[in-house]
Amino acid sequence: MSSRLLSGIVCVGLVAVLAFLALAWRPAIAPIETPAPQSFAPELVAKGKMLASAGNCQSCHTVEGGQPFAGGVGIPTPFGTIYSTNITPDRTVGIGAWSLAAFERAMREGVGRDGKHLFPAFPYDHFARLTDDDVTALYAYLMTVAPVNAVQPANTVPFPLDIRALQAGWKMLFFRPGPSLPDPQRSAGWNRGAYLSEGLAHCGACHTPRNVLGAESRGLPYDGAVIKDGWIAWPLDVSPSPARWTKDSFIAYLKGETTENHGRALGPMGPVIHGLKALPGEDIAAIADYFMSFNRPLRPKADALAQQALERSRTIGQDRRERGRQLYVGACASCHDDGGTAPLATRARLPLTTALWHDRPNNFVLTVRNGVGAPDDAPGPPMPPFAASLSDSEIVAIADYLRHTRLGLPKWPAELYDEIASP
Ligand code: HEC
Ligand code: HEC
Ligand code: HEC
Repeated sequence: MSSRLLSGIVCVGLVAVLAFLALAWRPAIAPIETPAPQSFAPELVAKGKMLASAGNCQSCHTVEGGQPFAGGVGIPTPFGTIYSTNITPDRTVGIGAWSLAAFERAMREGVGRDGKHLFPAFPYDHFARLTDDDVTALYAYLMTVAPVNAVQPANTVPFPLDIRALQAGWKMLFFRPGPSLPDPQRSAGWNRGAYLSEGLAHCGACHTPRNVLGAESRGLPYDGAVIKDGWIAWPLDVSPSPARWTKDSFIAYLKGETTENHGRALGPMGPVIHGLKALPGEDIAAIADYFMSFNRPLRPKADALAQQALERSRTIGQDRRERGRQLYVGACASCHDDGGTAPLATRARLPLTTALWHDRPNNFVLTVRNGVGAPDDAPGPPMPPFAASLSDSEIVAIADYLRHTRLGLPKWPAELYDEIASP
């Protein structure tokens, strides 16, 4: 009796596995002769180049100092490191034998030419929103870049999570296919901004927290998330800093300028800004329209808080946090405010920076350690990296001092620094 029950269960299990495999199966798409670069209209290629820049294809598919688009960049995930692939038109290891249909399927469904499911470390869940025209332009551009024969390192995703067919299950749970549909209630600018942000520029891939299975949490869009090396992609639904975003300051930030109230884009936001520079000004304004339609200050009475923070920075005298004050005056005050005179015109105002107002110290510590160098294109004297000259506990002392004297907030709890402790 029990052995019959057992074989019954085994049969049902087998049928379920076979049904899943049938659902997960995707056919290979036949290889093609690599199209000649001249076969694509120059305007189409130019458009594709602009889109590739705004979509950050190059920065995610090029290792530092490596050949463009040859892949090999490790994307850390809680399930292991996934390496970006070679998307140059090399026939054997790149996408040289891919037809437009194969490329389109990868972008829209996350399936490779050979039929294998791709991991969502490749943000196809965003690229699925692209128009046919934009996908065609991206294809044309990639087919004209120099082919490179380079193979990326093997992923470190452990068995059984490395079984790509399982991604079909992930897609059933979390992936919403299809292009984005315009909202007729909204302006053309807003719709353009939504299209760019949700699709090509995949802002949510960093700014939206992920669930335990690595999918963006639908209920918490743009609520902020720790991404790589401890950097936090700040919340964009609410602003931790009481300084209000205006459309103009948002545009300036996205153009890579230092904004008076929100500093400038540092860490992993730097390459994003660099990529967005290819877009025309109207597109940047459209992205700002989109975020301005829902972004609001996190704290009540934000304007008064911002005012107080600036006021405090002008009037601090002696402070109990003497160690923090001395370190700050010695290392920082020459460029930032010294608690008495006005800040340098080109410098971000520390009393308003999200790096101090957020409830975690990550980006403050990482900015002080790394400095703000040439790749960040900051005007004026660059901020030196303090990793060698300030110890972790000295950086904490400066943070405590600034939080207390400028923001009127308690210090960050000690355990919050663990995640970003010096190696
Ligand atoms: C956040 C990083 C990231 C960005 C941005 C990104 N990719 Fe990728 N891409 C990856 C990773 C990682 C893979 C490999 C996924 C896998 O192995 O399952 C990949 C795979 C691909 C593939 C499949 C190639 C193959 O051999 O299977 C194509 C095509 C592709 N990307 C095109 C693009 C284009 C076009 C853009 C820009 C619009 C882009 N990617 C932007 C990370 C990225
Ligand atoms: C690769 C990950 C990544 C992507 C993609 C990304 N961001 Fe960011 N973003 C970050 C990080 C990290 C920060 C924090 C930077 C800092 O501390 O200076 C940030 C900061 C910001 C800020 C500043 C918020 C504040 O309170 O100071 C804005 C605004 C912003 N991003 C907008 C965007 C928009 C719009 C997009 C899409 C066009 C986008 N980001 C795409 C990682 C990303
Ligand atoms: C030589 C000048 C210089 C010194 C010294 C300096 N900084 Fe900076 N700091 C900058 C520049 C430049 C930026 C980029 C933003 C800008 O252009 O204002 C910056 C940005 C920052 C930011 C990010 C602000 C934001 O919202 O983008 C923080 C936080 C910061 N500095 C803290 C410090 C601390 C703490 C010290 C001392 C340990 C320090 N800085 C010393 C020049 C300096």
